This record gives sequence, structure tokens and C-alpha cells, in this order.
Amino acid sequence: MRIDTAAGSILCDPWVNPAYFASWFPFPDNSRLDWETLGNVDYLYVSHLHRDHFDAEHLKRFINKKATVLLPEYPTSQLEDELRELGFTSFLRTKSDEVHELDGGLKIMIQALISPTDGPIGDSSLWVEHDGIRVLNQNDARPTDLSRFNELGHVHAHMLQFSGAIWYPMVYELPDAAKTAFGKQKRDRQFDRTWRYIDDLKADHVFPIAGPPCFLDDELWQFNDIFGDEGNIFPDQAVFLEEYAKVGGTNGIVLLPGSVTSLTAAGEAETTHPVPVDEFFANKQAHLEEMRERKAPIIAAEKASWRHPEIDVLGELKKRIEPLLEESIYMAQGVGGPVRFDFTDSFGPTGEILESIVVDFPGKQVRPYAGEKVRYRFKTGRALVEHLIHIDEGDWVNSLFLSCRFSAARIGQYNEFVYAFFKCLSEERLQYAEGWYDEHEKAVEAEDTQFGDWTVQRRCPHLKADLSRFGVVDGNVLTCQLHGWKFDLPSGRCLTSVGHKIRASKTE
Ligand code: FES
Repeated sequence: MRIDTAAGSILCDPWVNPAYFASWFPFPDNSRLDWETLGNVDYLYVSHLHRDHFDAEHLKRFINKKATVLLPEYPTSQLEDELRELGFTSFLRTKSDEVHELDGGLKIMIQALISPTDGPIGDSSLWVEHDGIRVLNQNDARPTDLSRFNELGHVHAHMLQFSGAIWYPMVYELPDAAKTAFGKQKRDRQFDRTWRYIDDLKADHVFPIAGPPCFLDDELWQFNDIFGDEGNIFPDQAVFLEEYAKVGGTNGIVLLPGSVTSLTAAGEAETTHPVPVDEFFANKQAHLEEMRERKAPIIAAEKASWRHPEIDVLGELKKRIEPLLEESIYMAQGVGGPVRFDFTDSFGPTGEILESIVVDFPGKQVRPYAGEKVRYRFKTGRALVEHLIHIDEGDWVNSLFLSCRFSAARIGQYNEFVYAFFKCLSEERLQYAEGWYDEHEKAVEAEDTQFGDWTVQRRCPHLKADLSRFGVVDGNVLTCQLHGWKFDLPSGRCLTSVGHKIRASKTE
């Protein structure tokens, strides 16, 4: 997304090269845009470090290094460090939720979300105002509500995510029918959340952005939403328009690479497209097939770089992970059991298992698997882990897990701490996340809200969404619509994830 105003241009999250072990490609293909021209901007905004937003190679090659980086206020300096390494030297370190006035009357505000579950420790949205026109690039950030943006006046254009961007439920070893049912639930929930945000902001125009990606490797091709599978979590922009129309939405505008929308303060929007949008989506399959052929050499070259058989995987993981297990209190306790990894001889979950290891959270050890019962099991190619060790990757979510090149099985509920831990494989991140959980746990939730006869703590035990806005009670079950977590009110038990009890009582 590039935002052009008379007071300067802002390029947002230019992503072109495949991300996550060459699994995700931008859809539709944007690699043929004139990036020399597009990259010649006054400001750069990289919302967060997920590789489908932070494309180091592209930033290095095409984006003007004199551009001022609009930096979200994150607890770690990693985003700034990585951008400096690419050659950027001018940074505006914004304060979260504060409006900053730039030259020529251009105003911006970045809201930074900083819980361990937001992006790779941090995700953000960018609000821009110029000449009476306001736009919000919410991107894939999930603020609990949009009130801070509403306070700043009517918004003309709201750009937000509507599609999935995760490995659930596809990689889980489940019967097909269950997988479809979970996928459908997730797809519905994604749309519900999108409608809620749209309704919160009531912008003149809504732009579905930030997804879905497309999958061009043969091993992942089935994840594209072209097979009529109602459990596919990657609906595209055309599906967004259809679904939006069902809830009465008429102000959606789909952008293709190269589309341009001009906005006026009176609320008008005029859009030009490189090809008619309907025609493009009618030919989606052909577009993907052509892309698959064209990008195959890129995937092959990446694959050729992953194997490092000389690496002692168990030894290296011991060396890297055991000190972190020692330091981890909340996350280790939250995981609460051993997590097993089966490493195969392929680039994914298929093939022969070469080695099984266990990250033993209670025992604070990484060791060979000894036949015990585990809560979580992951199966992936050993080559991928060799590569992660080789490049010293500190975030396995932003690399291995988002690649979807693995399968998973678990006993019992989803456990957010498993994934939180594996995105914190560095001292700095681990300490930050532990501190965050510590504060979060201790925060006394004194305020209540009412659902009929039920008095319930006002903030969701998951990520503190305001339940007076996001909570829906059906019988004895409360659902928080921000991420769809469910709670049994009589017992307070969280039905979605381990821990996270809710305080609730019934008035007699
Ligand atoms: S904040 Fe995530 S489900 Fe409530």
C-alpha cells in the first residue's frame, strides 16, 4: 500500500518475495510493478517484523534509503536494528496512540500492540490525515477496539485484514470432517471480527487488504482457496465482497496491484484498476497456475539452501533452548509438559522420521524422545530446523510455523504458550514476554460487566478485550468475539485454551 498526499508519500509493508520457507507469495502477484518508482518515497512504514510485511531483500533493493521510517513503539529494538542494517538511517520513533505532525501538515499516528501474541512481539496500525482526509491502515493488527482512531474524527478509508494468516487448522492431524468444521468456524470468525471492526469505525470506504497469501509449492498448493472447500481459511477479496454484501456492506473496494484510489474529504472515492476486478477473480486459477510455473525456480533455489546435514540438531537445540527453559517461568508453566518434535527426511511432515526429540518444559531439558506421553507433537523436515539453526533464527513462528510445512497433533486444548515460547528463542524476547505475562497475571481485574444474571469480569482473560463490547452469552457459555475464545460461566473454565479462567458469578 502506498499512500500519496501533497505533503509526502508513505509506503506501507512492501512485500514481494516469498516468505516462510518459500511458502507464502503475495496474491495477486505484485512483482511486476514498477518498484523503482514506487520505492522512491518520503516515508516508509513497516508495521511489524512478520516476513510477509518485512521483506528485507525488497526493502534493500528498491526502497529509497533516504525515506524516513515511521517506527512503531515496540518494546524491543529489533525492527529498527534490522532496518538500519538494510541502510535506513532516518527514523521517527513514534509514541503509540499519539498523533505526530510531519512537514506540510501531514499527520500520522501509529498504534502499537505489544503482547507476546501480537505479531512477532508487536503489530501495529497506521492512521494518516492530510487535508481533511483520514485513512486507517489497520492491516492485520487486532486492537481490542478502534476507539482511539474514532476520537480523531471520521475516517474516509479503512484498510484491514479479513482472511486467515495462520496454520490452523490445516496442519493438524485431524479427520477431514473435523478439519473442515474447524476451518469453517475459523473462516466465519475471521469475517465476524472484520464486520465488527468495520462497524466500529464506520469509514466511508473499506479496503480488504493484508491477505490472503498464495501457496505455489506443490506441497502446499491445496491451501489455496480454489477447491470450493468451505473450511479453507484463506478466502480472497472477491469472497470478501460477497460475504460483506450478505451483511449489508456496500462500501467495499478491492485493490489489485496497480490499482489506484483517489479520495476526497467529501467521502468520494474513484478507483482505477489495471484489469477489471471481476475478470481477474474469474481467472484466479489461471493466474495462480501461471505464477506457479514462473516462481518454481525461486522455490527450488530456496529449497536447495536449507539442508545443513553437518549440524548436530539435538546438540544445537540443547545449547540454545535449555538456558531459555531455565529462565522461563510463566511460559514454561503454561506449556506444562514435554513437546515432541519428529524430524523427517523431507521438507515437511511426510517421509521417514530421522530423529525425535523432546523439549521438556517441566524438566527444563532438550533430549531424545523416550516414548513418553506428550501434550504437543510437531512433525517437520529436519532440513528446515537445520536452516533455522544455521541462520540463528530466534522466532520459529515467523519462520517454521507460518510456513505450514509441518503437521501437529495435540492432546486437549490449544495452548498459546507453546507458540509464544517458540517465538521467543532469544534472551531479549524471552525476558520481555515473561515480564508481560507477569504483569498481565497480576493485573487485578476489578471491573465487572453484566450479562443478564451473570456478573463477569469486564476484561477478557485472553488479551483483555472489553467483554461489554465483545462478549456474547449463549446459555452458560460466554464467547469473546475478538478471537472467539469461549468460557463456561458456572465454572469459569476457559473452553478454548489451557488456563485463562474467568471470574463470573450469578445473581440469585
Ligand atoms: S481477547 Fe482474545 S478472545 Fe478475548
